[in-house]
Amino acid sequence: MDIHFTKFSNYNRGLVADLLSDAYAFDDKYMNIDQFRESDDFWFDNLDIADRCGFVTTLGSEVIGFISWDPRNMPAYAIIGDNCIVTKHKGEGYGKLQLQEAVNRIAENGAKKIFVSTNIDLVPAQRMYESVGFVKLDNSTLESWQIAQNCEVYYVMDMCAG
Ligand SMILES: CC(C)(COP(=O)(O)OP(=O)(O)OC[C@H]1O[C@@H](n2cnc3c(N)ncnc32)[C@H](O)[C@@H]1OP(=O)(O)O)[C@@H](O)C(=O)NCCC(=O)NCCS
Repeated sequence: MDIHFTKFSNYNRGLVADLLSDAYAFDDKYMNIDQFRESDDFWFDNLDIADRCGFVTTLGSEVIGFISWDPRNMPAYAIIGDNCIVTKHKGEGYGKLQLQEAVNRIAENGAKKIFVSTNIDLVPAQRMYESVGFVKLDNSTLESWQIAQNCEVYYVMDMCAG
């Protein structure tokens, strides 16, 4: 398996929007091109941050996905943000490998907790988070910054838990 995790700065602007458009093509509800472009602009306008807080996943010579996280509240916690695997390679275990690599990097940088949120109909995403060790939160216990994410399913990984 020729999987590698590489820097955003090795690629051209447009990559993030293209990957998100491909990965979410299964449902118009999630096809928010303006938001994908905004994300793309942020990462390619801030490549120093992009290379510290995310990476691009390749399979051989093919780009198959990316993941990013928000480190601004570290060491208390980090928040996993956009992540995806292109449709052609979904269901082959790469989303899980990509997420595990992100969790390892975040843990190495000292985060005590990692949060992530998703929607109820994004079943592969939920399975992926759970299979890497994220634990579902009770939605009645969410803090205001989490509620503002406007998601349906919220997870935490407590790095200090035995
Ligand atoms: C979520 C996503 C990144 C997962 O990547 P992937 O490479 O397809 O996932 P994997 O093959 O690593 O599988 C991860 C887990 O999901 C399960 N899974 C994968 N596809 C599935 C499907 N279609 N239905 C149900 N479960 C599925 C796998 O069995 C695995 O669980 P396991 O370890 O318990 O067996 C990918 O599907 C994607 O890009 N989806 C659209 C974007 C998205 O939802 N991003 C997350 C935003 S919160």
